[in-house]
Amino acid sequence: RPAPLIDPFQRAITYLRLSVTDRCDFRCAYCMAEDMQFLPKRDLLTLEELDRLCGVFVERGVRKLRITGGEPLVRRDIMQLFRRLSRHLKSGALEELTLTTNGSQLARFASELADLGVRRINVSLDTLDPTKFREITRRGDLATVLGGIEAARAAGIKVKLNAVALKGVNEDEIAPMLTWAHERAMDMTLIEVMPLGEIDGDRTDQFLPLSVARARLEERFTLTPLPDRTGGPARYVRVEETGGRLGFITPLTHNFCESCNRVRLTCTGKLYMCLGQEDAADLRAALRASPDDALVTRAVIEAISRKPKGHDFVIERARPAAVPRHMSVTGG
Ligand code: GTP
Ligand code: 5AD
Ligand code: SF4
Repeated sequence: RPAPLIDPFQRAITYLRLSVTDRCDFRCAYCMAEDMQFLPKRDLLTLEELDRLCGVFVERGVRKLRITGGEPLVRRDIMQLFRRLSRHLKSGALEELTLTTNGSQLARFASELADLGVRRINVSLDTLDPTKFREITRRGDLATVLGGIEAARAAGIKVKLNAVALKGVNEDEIAPMLTWAHERAMDMTLIEVMPLGEIDGDRTDQFLPLSVARARLEERFTLTPLPDRTGGPARYVRVEETGGRLGFITPLTHNFCESCNRVRLTCTGKLYMCLGQEDAADLRAALRASPDDALVTRAVIEAISRKPKGHDFVIERARPAAVPRHMSVTGG
């Protein structure tokens, strides 16, 4: 068996996040500017090339593959990529093939995703109020997203909701959303706003520390910490009153980098070793230089030998976008 990918801090890289497009049909106020410049389509790797890159990672011990964006389901013919990648599930090389989506196109794709072996997905949902939903996403329609979630559930896919905690916007909705999600057997994760990319306005105005949200929840709910099993950034609790799970992703108030198991690949073939750092390796040249994967493999190993210890996010008025790239480029 080829050697697994181990970084300089002895962390095994078993999780690849692949952003298949930087485009999105929404313009969430904390994620994007209203007027976004997207990558020219000619810069994108083909679906065949993305599949080949994923193959190299799976060969080297990646067990979990998450397709992200932008909105992954707006990439043309995206199901072809899922179809190809599902062979790694069948062979047993991959444990999980999944995606993070805004839900706008889910109704169309849910049953095919389920057929291909996708068992759980994460859907971004920051509010259950239709007017507020339109304000946050600027383009989105809540009913469509809720329909998408229902379609996924009906297809047998487990749905986890991701909600970004936004000061003065959805903070009063966190408890009702949690109840709503748990009544439908969906877990929920709260996320702190991260300083990624220029948006219209200032993120310091949006930032709600999750310590505050958690303290408020604890006035109504009993939160029992659960042992860490995902290796991901979320710290989970069980909500005793509902029986469901709630995760907290707190890059700003509590760092989780010591157990980081992931790297991220963009739709142009750049490999980012950390969401919160700018260092990236360009795998496209190696990919196109030869049909043999040896060059790509070497480039991947070299890149992972430079994975930094952690991010250095801070939310400060002086540097509203600490990392110039938007979340939609690296897919979270
Ligand atoms: P699970 O498989 O359900 O644990 O999902 P996940 O949390 O890995 O993935 P998801 O796409 O749902 O990510 C939720 C949020 O976590 C996204 O908004 C990401 O920005 C954030 N996130 C994921 N990985 C990292 C990371 O390594 N560092 C930081 N700072 N944030 C991350
Ligand atoms: N900070 C925190 N979360 C963000 N997301 C997008 N941009 C940001 C940001 N700047 C979230 C989305 C989605 C996930 C992939 O990332 O809401 O749930
Ligand atoms: Fe699109 Fe997700 Fe960014 Fe919203 S947060 S604009 S849905 S990529």
